[in-house]
Amino acid sequence: MKKLNQKSLDFIDDTIYKHKDEKGPTKLILHEIQRELGYIPFEAMERMSEVLQIPISKIYGVVTFYSQFTTEPKGKHVISVCLGTACYVNGSQTILDLLVEMTGAPVNGTSADGIFSIDATRCVGACGLAPVVSVDGTVFGCTKQLEDLKMLVLNYKKEEAPA
Ligand code: FES
Repeated sequence: MKKLNQKSLDFIDDTIYKHKDEKGPTKLILHEIQRELGYIPFEAMERMSEVLQIPISKIYGVVTFYSQFTTEPKGKHVISVCLGTACYVNGSQTILDLLVEMTGAPVNGTSADGIFSIDATRCVGACGLAPVVSVDGTVFGCTKQLEDLKMLVLNYKKEEAPA
């Protein structure tokens, strides 16, 4: 397991103390840590448990219940492809295969260069736009936007390529 640097540990502590007296602080704190660090390190759950006096098993339960939290570091750009029924029948599997090929990231994993993570998700409630893909939270719906999606991924690859 990679050890966290002091900056990350300070961020975790500051975030916990900032929200500890608010109502239902667990998800608030986890959201901020996920956004800043890209995942929820075990050390963060330990610190939350100590400061908030909540069993670590409960915090871990929240982290694993909600799909927006992850215990593994994600790539710089996170691509989610919906494989719910409406998206699947409209070709999301083909798009997923294409994205895996373009990015080198496996399904539900991260590319070796750390640039992309690909998540296969269930229905995200936007079936009218099927097939739905989101990149860093921006939604691309319908196959009409497939070219835009491909261009975005190619641009990210270019930007991140070593000079
Ligand atoms: S099935 Fe993909 S958004 Fe509903």
